[in-house]
Amino acid sequence: MNQDQELRQKAINRVEEYRDIVNLDPYRLHYHIMPPVGLLNDPNGFIQWKGVYHLFYQWMPFKTGHGAKLWGHYSSTDLVNWRHEEIALTPSDWFDKNGCYSGSAIAENDVLHLFYTGNVRDGEGNRETYQCLAVSKDGISFEKQGVVARLPKGYTAHFRDPKVWKKSGSWYMVLGAQTEKLEGRAVLFQSDNLKDWQFLGDITGSNTDQLGEFGYMWECPDMFELDGKDVLIVCPQGLEAEEMLYQNVYQSGYFVGELNEQKPGFTHGDFEELDRGFDFYAPQTTKDESGRRILVAWMGVPDQDEQSQPTIQHQWVHCMTLPRELHLQNDKIVQKPVAELRTLRQNEKRAAISLNQGTEKLDIVQPDKTELFISPQLIEDSFEISFRGAARLIYNKADGIITLERNSYVDERTEARHCRLHELRDLNIFLDASAIEIFVNGGEEVFTARYFPYPGNNDVWISARKEIIVNVTSWTVA
Ligand code: FRU
Repeated sequence: MNQDQELRQKAINRVEEYRDIVNLDPYRLHYHIMPPVGLLNDPNGFIQWKGVYHLFYQWMPFKTGHGAKLWGHYSSTDLVNWRHEEIALTPSDWFDKNGCYSGSAIAENDVLHLFYTGNVRDGEGNRETYQCLAVSKDGISFEKQGVVARLPKGYTAHFRDPKVWKKSGSWYMVLGAQTEKLEGRAVLFQSDNLKDWQFLGDITGSNTDQLGEFGYMWECPDMFELDGKDVLIVCPQGLEAEEMLYQNVYQSGYFVGELNEQKPGFTHGDFEELDRGFDFYAPQTTKDESGRRILVAWMGVPDQDEQSQPTIQHQWVHCMTLPRELHLQNDKIVQKPVAELRTLRQNEKRAAISLNQGTEKLDIVQPDKTELFISPQLIEDSFEISFRGAARLIYNKADGIITLERNSYVDERTEARHCRLHELRDLNIFLDASAIEIFVNGGEEVFTARYFPYPGNNDVWISARKEIIVNVTSWTVA
């Protein structure tokens, strides 16, 4: 067996060996994508091709930690039911031997192309980086084509995560980078044939014309057109927390503006965070065959204390967010769970809850797989929803602040994330066994988090300090 075959066989054996242990985990997710075993991080190569959605992911099947990543592969015809496919890429060549790192997919001439970063450590442990290509005619088995772009001068080997797209007959690739002065950047390459790539330069970054100091490294950029504007999503590392902003270890957000490919540059507005919760990173988007711009992100953040997550005992860790459709409203990204998710709604229940200084338990049968839609009709002061004793959502009308609290999986202490709202119109909440996604005001703000309720605590409470009237619709997600 060669190295590639060996890694594949080893991964298959691990999945087999730990299937029951993973399945027995009460925190195993019911409708979020998770790894069959081991660690999952970034979504990769997200594309709809010949009617089928392909979502690859950074996968470490051999332990619940990071390392030389493979590309795992899920496919779906409806963004709801996913099938685990055979491994797409293994770190088995000189140019990717320490990891087939993140990247993207495009289709051209009936061939699916994957662009990814080959992570390499030399004999002394120094990092090398290569941008690589692999192709497939059936979307399942891929043939590596080797290195297509190398590290330009002026950057460190933290240079990765190619996202490729076509514009006016030409191909472009944006990458996350770090300059030798340790500044995070997004850089642009161009190609006419997908094989020969030319470095065009920086388009924006820390200490450029448009930004002051803004992180020592930028990861996982994504550049696309949305409702007539250009959007750059990027994950800067090294931002200091500011009031309610930048509370996680690393950030994930976007700039709206205009990309100039000819004289490479991106004129843009301020950085906006994509998510207000605890666990959101490395989002990737694709434009599907119906023209929607859909985003999926890793429900995790690098360099957090992931070894304290209770799923580690069951030999797996992390998951993806639900797929979300993006739009721009007044230069702000709005995220909505894709419409297909409604096909999972069963057992609809409606309640009009009116409370005055009181508490009421919601009539929810399976809070580990429930969708809620809550629209307040009257809020005199504040109200909160408590989820299975493990998380709380609190809205305070007077100061216009909405807060998500959870019990830390590290030390059980309460931790909180906040954001400001002009008003609260509605909440669309997805509860899975160990994940919560809260879409506020039709997706103007989103809180994404893992949470780990004690099995057996199934109560969802709503309570108010003064008067509230809220309509609640709930469904079992089946
Ligand atoms: C982001 C990231 C990427 C890299 C990948 C490795 O989470 O660090 O920059 O390609 O993960 O798994």
